[in-house]
Amino acid sequence: MNGGFLTGQRTEAAPRTEPGSPRAALDRLWARGCDFLGTELAIMGGAMTWVSERNLVAAISNAGGFGVIASGSMSPDLLRAEIAATAALTRRPFGVNLITMHPQLMELIGVCLAQRVSHVVLAGGIPSAAAIARIREGGARVVCFAPALVIAKKLMRAGADAIVIEGSEAGGHIGPVSTAVLAQEVLPNLPEVPVFVAGGIGRGEAILSYLEMGAAGVQLGTRFVCAHESIAHPHFKRAFIRAAARDAMPSVQVDPRFPVIPVRALVNPATQRFAAVQREVIERFNKGELTQKEAQLEIEHFWAGALRRAVIDGDVEGGSLMAGQSVGLVGREQSTREILDELVAQALAALGARGRCPGKAAAPTPARGRDAAG
Ligand SMILES: Cc1cc2nc3c(=O)[nH]c(=O)nc-3n(C[C@H](O)[C@H](O)[C@H](O)COP(=O)(O)O)c2cc1C
Repeated sequence: MNGGFLTGQRTEAAPRTEPGSPRAALDRLWARGCDFLGTELAIMGGAMTWVSERNLVAAISNAGGFGVIASGSMSPDLLRAEIAATAALTRRPFGVNLITMHPQLMELIGVCLAQRVSHVVLAGGIPSAAAIARIREGGARVVCFAPALVIAKKLMRAGADAIVIEGSEAGGHIGPVSTAVLAQEVLPNLPEVPVFVAGGIGRGEAILSYLEMGAAGVQLGTRFVCAHESIAHPHFKRAFIRAAARDAMPSVQVDPRFPVIPVRALVNPATQRFAAVQREVIERFNKGELTQKEAQLEIEHFWAGALRRAVIDGDVEGGSLMAGQSVGLVGREQSTREILDELVAQALAALGARGRCPGKAAAPTPARGRDAAG
């Protein structure tokens, strides 16, 4: 196992930039995020179950971003092997995303610490203070998702080293609030820890705008699905390339008595069948053929294994095509490096254009709250 990814420090000197240049301005804007992640770019590759495995994670880190392994429902042994395989492909820092409701969460944390993973991302619910404390005691940094400012503050007090705010434009499991509103709620009011913005980001100009609002960095998922290094099935990638933003819709709940956790995915025959299955199950419940618990379980069971079927097997009709609205900005397969270079170039072009535009500042200054916090 190499030493580079363990430290959370930059493994190579950042390229030299001209003072006053767009690049210097960008580097200043995301310096806090880069320092926190130990990267050249404060861009996290959001963990995506089945997609974010060794190849994509290492490719993102090797291209200057921060790859994150999606552990999903992996056992401790599988996670141990995945971390080792990823470390064999990159000398740069990367993280591991753990799902808080996993029955072996503490063992998985133990695996990350034993493998000396530098950053652990806790997702899929509000993590316990015990889980956060265990990761910190083991010497890794803890990143938590917060769906609102009050929860972000609570997590920070519990020891979270950084926060991700993910808006409802994102792919996968989503909350009710948009990225734009969450960013306005959280960024000016949480100067104590680095905040990374996720959900709906597909271009560099959007990255720049969140950095200027005080974000330390960003997290993108959908944009990386069609990377050459992503192992997603060609059918899955093709569905992304063809889709428009409006095709990525939240799952539909037919009856409030039977809650459905909202998941944003491309509409396909499976999403349509899901509504029909809910109606059938609810009818059986109304007739007394099923208890409420049995009916709820049948509804939840519908999507079991569906993401794997789509991502790995390429079943784009019967599987789950989890995707964010930024899928409309995915136009072709590209290398991970090309995707990251393009995002950076777009941010730099936006910064550069300001210098040529009378009446606008040549270089932006960070938001004040963030400035004060360093
Ligand atoms: C196919 C897919 C699978 C995902 N799986 C996970 C997951 O296992 N854990 C998690 O925390 N987030 C998951 N996400 C969310 C991403 O990590 C990321 O936060 C999100 O994609 C960012 O929004 P964007 O899709 O608009 O870029 C998933 C997203 C997608 C598209």
